[in-house]
Amino acid sequence: MKVIVTENYDEMSKKAAEVIAEVIKADENAVLGLATGTTPIGLYKELIDKCAKKEISFKNIKTVNLDEYVGLPKGHVQSYDYFMKDNLFNHVDIDLANTNLPNGIAADLDAECARYTALLNKMRQSIQLLGIGSNGHIGFNEPKTPFDSTTHIVNLTESTIKDNSRLFDDISEVPTKAITMGIANIMNAKKILVVANGENKAKAVYNMVKGPVTEDCPASVLQKHEDVIVIVDKKAAALL
Ligand code: GLP
Repeated sequence: MKVIVTENYDEMSKKAAEVIAEVIKADENAVLGLATGTTPIGLYKELIDKCAKKEISFKNIKTVNLDEYVGLPKGHVQSYDYFMKDNLFNHVDIDLANTNLPNGIAADLDAECARYTALLNKMRQSIQLLGIGSNGHIGFNEPKTPFDSTTHIVNLTESTIKDNSRLFDDISEVPTKAITMGIANIMNAKKILVVANGENKAKAVYNMVKGPVTEDCPASVLQKHEDVIVIVDKKAAALL
């Protein structure tokens, strides 16, 4: 695990965008595993900028997203589908047909989980971007999720619902379920990039990097992956 500590959020975003840009430059057909949340917004802006300057192109890039809420209607502003279009896809030269997210409104969610895992097995991520929840979750793999899990439906923990409620008008509007890549699907990526900023992530970052490898902290499993880069600002690195 390579850990890079930056002065602030902007530097974290720039460095993380560099890592993804290098993957794109090395392979114009790369498969990017993407994440939502507030943390990656800055690095997506950097990628948009690099694309505008023609340093990189998404023309043949394929993407697979980590997760999606269950039950939000298509086009809902809080859906991760909307987030990805709003923060990245609509601003780069990507073919939307090459972008993939789990479908949180599929009639048969079990079948959707199986479909998404089959897709991931076929498309193995060249790089998987991850944020981290304050309880150490990755994607929506909450504490105690088995390390061998594949795409599944989760009941979100109270702490995650509370964390994510800041983006909704009212906490009662936050979905209580989500569909997420499992930990095995994440670990199958060739390379993993984790970004985190702010003091509320310091404990989770410590547990991910220095804590025991345990299902109590899903992100700790990353210690077992051979190619992980963690880029965190100094507030998130405070306990390291
Ligand atoms: C959500 C997402 C995660 C994300 C986490 C942290 O629960 N499912 O993929 O990493 O929140 O989000 P933020 O970056 O907004 O702190």
